[in-house]
Amino acid sequence: MIIARTRKDLNKTLQFFSQEPGKLALIPTMGNLHDGHLSLIKLAKLNAKKTITTIFVNPLQFGKNEDYYKYPRTEETDIQKLTKEKCDILFIPKNKNEVFPEYEKLKQIEAGKLGNELCGKIRPGHFNGVLTVVNKIFEIIRPDIAIFGAKDYQQQILIKHMAKNLHPYLSLLKAPIIRSKNGVALSSRNNYLSKTEITLASNLFKCLENSVKSYKKNVLLHEIIDNAKKFLIAKNLDPDYFELRDSKLNIIKDSSFNGKKIFLSSVKINNTRLIDNIEF
Ligand code: PAJ
Repeated sequence: MIIARTRKDLNKTLQFFSQEPGKLALIPTMGNLHDGHLSLIKLAKLNAKKTITTIFVNPLQFGKNEDYYKYPRTEETDIQKLTKEKCDILFIPKNKNEVFPEYEKLKQIEAGKLGNELCGKIRPGHFNGVLTVVNKIFEIIRPDIAIFGAKDYQQQILIKHMAKNLHPYLSLLKAPIIRSKNGVALSSRNNYLSKTEITLASNLFKCLENSVKSYKKNVLLHEIIDNAKKFLIAKNLDPDYFELRDSKLNIIKDSSFNGKKIFLSSVKINNTRLIDNIEF
């Protein structure tokens, strides 16, 4: 695997690879790679000739009181994992200026109305930061394909909207959620949890599954949501939201809606926020 730490090195590497025909697939990450991330690389390898992963803990998407400074940075093991997966290129910028040369003057992309709902409501500005960095990475790398996980469902939808306008020739792929045996969606933030907290966290997926079952049995939506929130609170999971939306994240107003749906939730365990969802 070729490792580029500056834009200059990255451009040289991309130029070298562009001499060979075939598609280039990009997997943007913030590192601390786990099997969820690695599943994206496996999917990339099935869909493209070359794969490039980026590791960049993007300061723009963290709020003032969030975990930017303590976010796990595990470069050495990340490199080992990517090498094992036969990723072709890793772009791991040596500092933020390699991504944003004029950081102080940066104009961020606005994530719009959906950017202020669900996770955006509890993390103001978060999605503007995500879209700004993802757009920049698309501009720098110009991939044919980019892959995002369904775990961050709202992120993936907002990136789709942004790319439709700014990168119309790019194909986006959505990768399924990878979970541990007890149902917890893998996440770098699970590292913040104790064993007991991980066991509690497994109730989030249970709650999503039970809500789908109740929906299919025609239980009233407001009852399902009330019960879900009560269940989560009883398990020491403090819900920020628990909602049913359509697959584009529009609010479902009509109870006879037949299309694809998704229950989404964000909960807090002590100071750690976890998100999960289930499509059906
Ligand atoms: P990060 O949290 O590192 O996630 C990188 C990618 O891995 C995202 O597309 C995310 O949805 C996917 N992913 C994480 N956990 C997963 C799981 N359990 N199953 C499947 N996919 C999973 O998301 C980000 O970084 C950042 O916001 C980023 C897009 C890189 C912009 O900074």
